[in-house]
Amino acid sequence: MLNSSPTENLTEATNQPEDLTTELTNWDSELKFIVEGISSQIGEAFFQSCARYLAKTLRVQYGLIAEFVESNPRKAKVLAFWTGDEFGPNFEYSLIGTPCDVVYEKGIRIYPNCIQKLFPEDQDLVDLQAESYLGIAIVDINGKPLGHIAALHTQELVGNYQEQEAILKIFAARSAAEIERMSADKALKEQNIYLQETLEKLQQTQLELIQAEKMSGLGHLVSGIAHEINNPISFIYGNIQHTQDYIDILLELIVDYQLELPHPSKWLQEKIDRLDLEFIQEDITKILGSMKTGSDRIRNIVSSLRNFSRFDESTRKLVDLHEGIESTLLMLQYRLQADQVFPEIQIIKEYGKIPLINCYASQMNQVFLNILNNAIDALRSESQIISDPIIYITTGIDYEENTMKVSIMDNGIGMSQSTLSRIFDPFFTTKPVGSGTGLGLAISYQIIVEQHDGKLNCVSSPGKFTKFMIEIPV
Ligand SMILES: Nc1ncnc2c1ncn2[C@@H]1O[C@H](COP(=O)(O)OP(=O)(O)O)[C@@H](O)[C@H]1O
Ligand SMILES: [Mg+2]
Repeated sequence: MLNSSPTENLTEATNQPEDLTTELTNWDSELKFIVEGISSQIGEAFFQSCARYLAKTLRVQYGLIAEFVESNPRKAKVLAFWTGDEFGPNFEYSLIGTPCDVVYEKGIRIYPNCIQKLFPEDQDLVDLQAESYLGIAIVDINGKPLGHIAALHTQELVGNYQEQEAILKIFAARSAAEIERMSADKALKEQNIYLQETLEKLQQTQLELIQAEKMSGLGHLVSGIAHEINNPISFIYGNIQHTQDYIDILLELIVDYQLELPHPSKWLQEKIDRLDLEFIQEDITKILGSMKTGSDRIRNIVSSLRNFSRFDESTRKLVDLHEGIESTLLMLQYRLQADQVFPEIQIIKEYGKIPLINCYASQMNQVFLNILNNAIDALRSESQIISDPIIYITTGIDYEENTMKVSIMDNGIGMSQSTLSRIFDPFFTTKPVGSGTGLGLAISYQIIVEQHDGKLNCVSSPGKFTKFMIEIPV
């Protein structure tokens, strides 16, 4: 120091702050690139800006971020690849014989030159005309490698090793956070899907429970009533014939009396005239006739009710589905008749020749009931008066497909495409609160598709018609 001239001292002294300024300016722009590279974005956009600004910050041609793929031999899947002026494709490659494999093992590596000579097996280095390489492993919080970041250049590296290492570390730390965030996100989504599925299963189970509960309640009630009515009506029906026979005998006897006593006393003749015996003789047969028809009808209804609520039949049985349709129609009779507002609904049946079908009878009746009820609702809607309401019921066998087909069509209000797409969803209803449960078709679908391996489809045109088609394998 003593030997040095004041001028030299001055130069050194003035030089120092100048160097610092250039270095600071460099760091300034690098810092800007780093911030650009690792801030804000997430997902693919983040990896792209990370790869791009990594290359910029390190002043090299290529920047790349890849995720390790669990496989043997080790592989990596590129998340973003900056080629210097655009993003390249995201490819997958084997790590064998590449500098990336060393990075996987060692954590960080910088090869300032001759990279192709060091890794002669790596064809990608040749294709990229790489001369130098910088790489760092991306590790999770426990040190487990998740992937790596690599920067490659077509020339020898210049610059400060420590600085390069620091830059790599910053980008790697942020990338690790992003990869972990993405896998947490993915896990969360999977969890969500799982929860959604569980919820759907629960709803389905609830639906089945409600259905079972409703059906058993209704079924028990109906079969209870049917049973109670069955005895008294049997007395009436069974005794009508005897009554008829006795009356016939009595009437015959009267005729005989009249023959033997053609001139009764004045008192008797007056009584015969007053009681209008002739009329009674004619009318009593008619009365008995209509009593017979009436009790016949009650017997039919009772047998329909019992048929409908076949609760004892929890197994499949061979049944006549026409009988099921008929008893369901009978139960709905009260809804088909005309009232002050709506005209009578006509039922047009086209029954084909069908064999006995192996099915759960009461469940099939439930399906007919649900679909027919909806058809009646569609024909008796406040929104549109249907002047000639008709329900067409067609049955038949498709011998090619070996299926039994039942179609139930109404010329009612129909429905829009968006309604149509949701009719089988549980709890979906377009009816006013309190009148629709939105369960009828969901239950029907379950009965046809799940219990009977069949199909239930619907076509509709708003304001024109709706047609439900049931198919059951035979
Ligand atoms: N024949 C039909 N005509 C028009 N719309 C229908 C018909 N059948 C069903 N729908 C539509 O499907 C919906 C769901 O029917 P459903 O499951 O039986 O429930 P709900 O009858 O209680 O509304 C109905 O609200 C209605 O919008
Ligand atoms: Mg309904």
